Amino acid sequence: MPAENQGAATDIQSILQEKRVFPPPRDFAASAHIKSLDEYRAMYDRSLEDPEAFWAEAARELHWYKPFTRVLEWKLPDARWFDGGLLNACHNCVDRQIEAGHGAEVAIIWEGEPIGAGGRPEIRRLTYDDLEYETAKLANVLDGLGVNRGEVVTIYMGMVPELVIAVLACARIGAPHSVIFGGFSATAIADRVTDAKSKVIITCDGAWRRGKIVSLKDNVDEAIHLASGVVSHTIVLKRCGNKIRMVEGRDHDWHEVMSQAEPDRDPTPMNAEDLLFILYTSGTTGKPKGIMHTTGGYSVYTYLTAKYIFDLHHGQNQVYWCTADVGWVTGHSYIIYGILPNRVPTFMYEGAPNHPEPDRFWDIIERHKVTQFYTAPTAIRAFMKWGEEHPGKHDLSSLRLLGTVGEPINPEAWMWYHRVIGGERCPIVDTWWQTETGGILITPLPGAIPTKPGSCTLPFFGIDAAVVDEQGVEKPANTGGLLAIRKPWPGMLRGVYGDRNRFIDAYFKRIKGMYFPADGARRDEDGYYWIMGRVDDVINVAGHRLGTMEVESALVSHTSVAEAAVVGMPHEIKGQGLAAFVTLKTGQTATEDLRTELINHVAREIGHIAKPDQLRFTDALPKTRSGKIMRRLLREIAEGHAPRGDTTTLEDFSVLAKLRENEES
Ligand code: WTA
Repeated sequence: MPAENQGAATDIQSILQEKRVFPPPRDFAASAHIKSLDEYRAMYDRSLEDPEAFWAEAARELHWYKPFTRVLEWKLPDARWFDGGLLNACHNCVDRQIEAGHGAEVAIIWEGEPIGAGGRPEIRRLTYDDLEYETAKLANVLDGLGVNRGEVVTIYMGMVPELVIAVLACARIGAPHSVIFGGFSATAIADRVTDAKSKVIITCDGAWRRGKIVSLKDNVDEAIHLASGVVSHTIVLKRCGNKIRMVEGRDHDWHEVMSQAEPDRDPTPMNAEDLLFILYTSGTTGKPKGIMHTTGGYSVYTYLTAKYIFDLHHGQNQVYWCTADVGWVTGHSYIIYGILPNRVPTFMYEGAPNHPEPDRFWDIIERHKVTQFYTAPTAIRAFMKWGEEHPGKHDLSSLRLLGTVGEPINPEAWMWYHRVIGGERCPIVDTWWQTETGGILITPLPGAIPTKPGSCTLPFFGIDAAVVDEQGVEKPANTGGLLAIRKPWPGMLRGVYGDRNRFIDAYFKRIKGMYFPADGARRDEDGYYWIMGRVDDVINVAGHRLGTMEVESALVSHTSVAEAAVVGMPHEIKGQGLAAFVTLKTGQTATEDLRTELINHVAREIGHIAKPDQLRFTDALPKTRSGKIMRRLLREIAEGHAPRGDTTTLEDFSVLAKLRENEES
């Protein structure tokens, strides 16, 4: 994402001038759920005119133990959906399919990373019956460890089917889950476990990543030590066979406890507004926010969006693959909760896209005849770089739809995706949404909405989006502004765990009466949305949100650092990279070793994804008279200069700062 997309969004100049339009392929449209732009518009209008009728109808496609009595109660910023209703999210993913006679159908197809003897990877297929059996047992294990309804269970695992089983087992007993991405460090786990007061962690010995083992259990051990007194039990799935320490009475072997567990455990009927999960995401301050999603609204929203946007049809040999990790919201919503209730097999891959070779994804698509493929622009840019010969080796003709998520996709990458992967026959859904929105808000519907490379096109049903100024007044077409959502939708966040003020301040303060996602956007003359990136101090690196404050806090926690500022800079593959500017404490010397040490320190504190791509030492940070760091100036410097080889020379920002002082203050 270009850096000019940051900063004051209200006067962003848009530089994209994309004129190409791709109508939905005719044969795709003919069999799609929504077949034309007119059909979309009619349904969209109805969804805004009478949202309660629209969402009630959608909700009734799921299973309720007791029907809801009220569709929506909206007292800004609090939405309650489907009050009075009782349901269970695991039931809707699993038991409901069995009750309808589909228990023997495949729910999850999984492929492991290692290539075994005979050149074949390990493949597992789990039916809805299998999922019920396993989730019921794990639910009983959690019961046995004293996990009560409403108590948060932390899940820190690799991409194995047991991760989905763990998520669904929590949902089954009404224990909200907090899944932590396997790339996060011990400190990050400790912070989250403490915030959520989570007594139990479900983890693995290790996870496979590019032929190597990441030792997850070691991180958990350290996290338990750091979060002293919070965690009393872990359940450890042995996946990689790496050597781990098991503490008697605290750490339980997954296979052992599961082999002793009873396989019967009915799902607990939950209130629609009971917490289903929390998921931590970056904000503008150092502390990650525990985004809260509840059972009814989230289930309905992810189910319906998945159905229409990925055009899911059961019984048509579809195999849907989302390449995200379950540790991110994309994995929650569009590997698990949105897909399973649609009864289309969800495919999961354990490892890296370039293991053992850069054609692994295409190999998988060919082997499993994947029909819908959903990935991130950063991955697409990596594929482009690796070369067309890799997809060229494989038969990708099973694909009928492509999707992207996580950051704006540059038109060049879009065109490559369309041509090389989609064979110019697959619609591309560029889906805009966030952890907080629960599901996709702005997106093409593949059989109905013509696409323009780089635009996420039009709002989904029930989504009243707008581009506005600081006063909430709509901006004219083709002028940049703040993206806002003016009405509640079922999948919206219900709060920030344990921090009511932050919930209000972050999302409902800047634009009065509306939800503010902190993205800038413009709408073109056709009403199409073009997302221009974040307007806060959050950077989107490889499709993942990182708060610059978090990285700064990590740097400052090192004994030799006095002050740090982190900004985004353009990065060929990741879209954005991180540039860190560091001032050292008196007596400390800037050396190449210290630079490496600081970069590794960030990886230890947060995780590898947060590692700065550039780290510069400076004797002072440029600041305005009021003491605000002049980030725009730092961004210019990060973009303009290649990293200096000579680390002993300090950038003299004080001079630059003086020059810019008037402009910035
Ligand atoms: C960005 C990921 C442009 C955006 C689901 C948003 C996008 C943030 C797109 C949320 C897209 C996501 N086009 N930008 N299609 N999708 N974003 O919470 O800045 O990890 O606010 O959720 O990613 O990131 P999060």
